[in-house]
Amino acid sequence: MVAVAILAAGKGTRMKSDLPKVLHPVAGKPMLERVIRNVEGLPVERLLVVVGHGAAQVQAALGAFPQVEFVHQEPLLGTGHAVQQLIPHLQGFTGDLLVLNGDVPLLRPTTLAQLLATHQQGQYGVTMLTALLPDPSGYGRVICDGQLQVSAIIEDRDCTPAQRQNQRVNAGIYCFRWPQLQEVLPRMTTANQQQEYYLTDTVQWLKPARAVDMLDVTEILGINDRKQLATATQLLYQRWRDEWMRRGVTMIDPLSITLEDEVELAADVILEPQTHLRGRTVIGAGSHIGPGCWLENSTIGEQVRVLYSVITNSQVAAGCQVGPFAHLREETVVGSGCRVGNFVEIKKSQVGSACRVAHLSYLGDAQLGTQVNVGAGAITANFDGRDKHPTVIGDGSKLGANSVLVAPVTLGTGVTVAAGSVVTEDVPADALVIARMRQVVKPHWRPPYLRDHEHEPSR
Ligand code: UD1
Ligand code: CA
Repeated sequence: MVAVAILAAGKGTRMKSDLPKVLHPVAGKPMLERVIRNVEGLPVERLLVVVGHGAAQVQAALGAFPQVEFVHQEPLLGTGHAVQQLIPHLQGFTGDLLVLNGDVPLLRPTTLAQLLATHQQGQYGVTMLTALLPDPSGYGRVICDGQLQVSAIIEDRDCTPAQRQNQRVNAGIYCFRWPQLQEVLPRMTTANQQQEYYLTDTVQWLKPARAVDMLDVTEILGINDRKQLATATQLLYQRWRDEWMRRGVTMIDPLSITLEDEVELAADVILEPQTHLRGRTVIGAGSHIGPGCWLENSTIGEQVRVLYSVITNSQVAAGCQVGPFAHLREETVVGSGCRVGNFVEIKKSQVGSACRVAHLSYLGDAQLGTQVNVGAGAITANFDGRDKHPTVIGDGSKLGANSVLVAPVTLGTGVTVAAGSVVTEDVPADALVIARMRQVVKPHWRPPYLRDHEHEPSR
């Protein structure tokens, strides 16, 4: 039996923030959510989260995890004190307790699985993740022998100068046998620099205590300030970039590309510099994105070219060309083989296949059939100041340059709209609609102030 306890009650003073530290996003998800997701694959019976500072806010942020049992800590007297609060909740529990710090979000699930396995096979009193860091400052130092048997953990602030030289650090991730831990918890005192109850003090009383050195030391990064927060996000981006490159994605200047964990990329996708993929964004094989793109919760088909554009909550089918400088948003669906070009915005619209919306257009709440040509500057006027209205454009229709379709309005198939028209009424199929003044030409015309003083027009 395994229970997990995540310590998340601390204030995070060094963040200098109104937001509780564990709710700061790391690569798009709150730190604490990442910690919870890291144990999702493990055989865990119970999941307890110790909350204190900003408890209501933290609880609200974990609405998507109904299995979490919240344990309140008040006042906040240290990590050992936080674990003491578990005692009433774990009455009669005889299994192992995996303790995770809420501010250590980069652990891989496989690492935690290995920690559990080592702990259970070796029958240790406590097994903890450790790492040898070139710069161990800020972390507790782990004192152990050649067999990685731990005798003590000393916090950075409490170290002697000699102890501070020790580069083996405590990750803040432990596997305890709960009955044994429960017995020694009352022995902790606050005789230390911070005058807190340190969970790390229990280790000296739990025999045998075993350290497990991490190979990838980036996994144990603890986040105490904004600089470490930035580093954590960078490390996750890098992990995911490396993984997609391994699976056949080309990245030009990877360090300038950011992407989140739900992104899915097919083989032979090419990502140019300054491409940012957010949320559930899926990109099909051979598509070429960037430079300078923001794609969020969007699905891009195969062989699509997107250049300097923003696409959110939308879909673009195979073979399209988007951009430069296009903005697709709010459930826009673009069919295959379309061209959506320079300075075009499309909102909540369906565009059939093989359409061209090449320059300077706005389409909102519109439904276009196939092979529609939207001339330069043609737009839908979808908003009357209070409500939004739909525009329907049939297959093969052509909108002249700078035409305005005042919604609600429906154009049949094969309609031609003369340039500069303001269309306010429905148009039947195969019609030409001209809705503008006929051109007037006045020959030999001069402005009135020139008319009286001259007898002949000057040339
Ligand atoms: C802790 C460890 C240190 C380790 C480091 C790894 C102790 C005494 N020290 O130090 O050895 O190297 O983590 O990152 O444990 N928390 C509570 N209640 C409290 C205090 C803290 O829930 O009263 C939570 C915090 O929200 C945080 C976690 O415990 O998520 C760690 O607390 P923090 O104060 O950051 O400990 P460190 O000084 O980093
Ligand atoms: Ca910390």
